[in-house]
Amino acid sequence: MSHVKKAIIPAAGLGTRFLPATKTVPKEMLTLVDAPTILYVVEEAVEAGIEDIILIAGRGKHAIEDFFDTSYELEDKLARAGNLNLLDRLTKIRNMANIISIRQKQALGLGHAVYCGKSVVGDEPFAVLLGDEITISQNGQKSVTSQLVENFSETQLSSISIMEVPDQDVSKYGIAEVQKISGCRYKVLSVIEKPDPKDIKSRMAMPGRYVFDSQIFEEIKNAQPGLNGEIQLTDSMKSLISHKGMEALTFTTKRFDAGDKLGYLKASVELALMNPELEIQFRNYLIELVKGWGK
Ligand code: UTP
Repeated sequence: MSHVKKAIIPAAGLGTRFLPATKTVPKEMLTLVDAPTILYVVEEAVEAGIEDIILIAGRGKHAIEDFFDTSYELEDKLARAGNLNLLDRLTKIRNMANIISIRQKQALGLGHAVYCGKSVVGDEPFAVLLGDEITISQNGQKSVTSQLVENFSETQLSSISIMEVPDQDVSKYGIAEVQKISGCRYKVLSVIEKPDPKDIKSRMAMPGRYVFDSQIFEEIKNAQPGLNGEIQLTDSMKSLISHKGMEALTFTTKRFDAGDKLGYLKASVELALMNPELEIQFRNYLIELVKGWGK
């Protein structure tokens, strides 16, 4: 029985949708309230029992590695000032997981980014969490990654997250054709990357949370460049489905694409409304703002 203890977080993309900010700041380091997007992603992985995080980074992404490292000067200053809450938060961040950073020397696509983690993952099953997407669990809900890890433990089948999207959005995602097993559990029949809406048989999009059997590395190795000349993860998933099978789970937690401007703004607003320090003042501000629109 294999357990999922490793996760790959691809974070080597160029982030062109966030230019000019991402000329010098990795989009995964853009702040949601008071923490960078990548921290929410790593926290989700850790909550699912992941011990080793394989961060796929590219040029100009040192800030991500530094964020999970010790900052002696800062910690010393906080300790001297008696700011123990903040000190505790920083200490927890650097101790939360074993972070292993690997360079993707060229942004050749998501499939290629995942393949960069092969030497560390070996032949174990592993999770993939995209570094620019966040999910928010509330009121004791299990995170998406936790649910996928559990499904893998029970079935030993690669397990991916799916969500229904409107017709006009299917061409923005990898789409899975699925057959219901029971509840939120589905068998994956096939997958296709960013299809033309008129060709689709399904509106189940695949957001960035997966658990894979290590066989996916073989499929990526044999893959040819697909859409936009990139090594697409979706193409390799297609081969994995035919060789080993795959399941999909729908989820009820909130999910935001923080690598997209609108998604990032929505995530910022919702997280601010969940923050005990800001909640009341920010809610009142929003109410006043919306009232003003009617005038
Ligand atoms: P995206 O396609 O959303 O990221 O990839 P991008 O290419 O940075 O975005 P834009 O379109 O230019 O704004 C989803 C995730 O996969 C990573 C990205 O960093 C992001 O977290 N990725 C993508 C890689 O690590 N390497 C790649 O070659 C491509």
